Amino acid sequence: MSKNNILCEVNSVSTILRAENITKKYNYEMQNNILEKTCFTVEQGSIQVIKGKSGSGKSTFLSIIGGMEFPTSGKVYYKNESLYDLSDEKQSKIRGEKFGFVFQSFQLIPELTVRENIELPLILLKRKKKEKLKESVNELAKELGIGYQLDKRPSFLSGGEQQRVAIARALITEPEILFADEPTGNLDQTTTKSIISLLTKLNKDKNLSLVIVTHEPNLFQTPHYLYSLKNGKLERMNLNV
Ligand SMILES: Nc1ncnc2c1ncn2[C@@H]1O[C@H](COP(=O)(O)OP(=O)(O)O)[C@@H](O)[C@H]1O
Ligand SMILES: [Mg+2]
Repeated sequence: MSKNNILCEVNSVSTILRAENITKKYNYEMQNNILEKTCFTVEQGSIQVIKGKSGSGKSTFLSIIGGMEFPTSGKVYYKNESLYDLSDEKQSKIRGEKFGFVFQSFQLIPELTVRENIELPLILLKRKKKEKLKESVNELAKELGIGYQLDKRPSFLSGGEQQRVAIARALITEPEILFADEPTGNLDQTTTKSIISLLTKLNKDKNLSLVIVTHEPNLFQTPHYLYSLKNGKLERMNLNV
């Protein structure tokens, strides 16, 4: 049995997300599939780290399991519902309420203050009253070490602080899974370490599931699964953490 088949079979009561035989080709002129019948599961409260060369399909894979990009074939199940077979409305509800996303380039809105950036997803979900919203942002920003930056615009913050703002924005909806695509790619070594320890603390304190694409897999001290994406397939690596 190949390693990949083992990944396809992993499934337990704590599985919240499952990708089955994901194949991806952006257009039919492409000779090779970017992803080739690959499988993956996310268990509640787990940390999954994916590494792979540039162009190996990591961002594509993360977008597919995060509900942002259709696979060419294969299924993504969120709690046993086939994500891409749901109505657009249900898909965006799951994306907005259950998933959080963080990117290498932070993707903050420069015209908005830090506070406005963080509260945006909740305003879009229309879930909280104004007073309560302010309180939640204050609390989360304080926890993430950016409490004193709330009234500034993102460009006045350091790279590490901007990424903390992006993480706060992803967490304000209290998602179950945080997807992070090279979240430390633009940061120096010291800041990278502090962001990785912040993510692992959030995993521990909030039982937040993490799926992280990173070039720095060695920085994780907490138990986690490590995968390598190669030739369109994910392989689980052995770890001694
Ligand atoms: N929207 C797109 N349209 C066409 N090709 C794409 C698109 N996005 C990515 N690709 C191609 O898919 C391959 C994998 O890209 P990507 O998932 O970004 O890899 P990674 O994140 O590992 O660097 C690359 O060859 C890239 O050029
Ligand atoms: Mg990428």
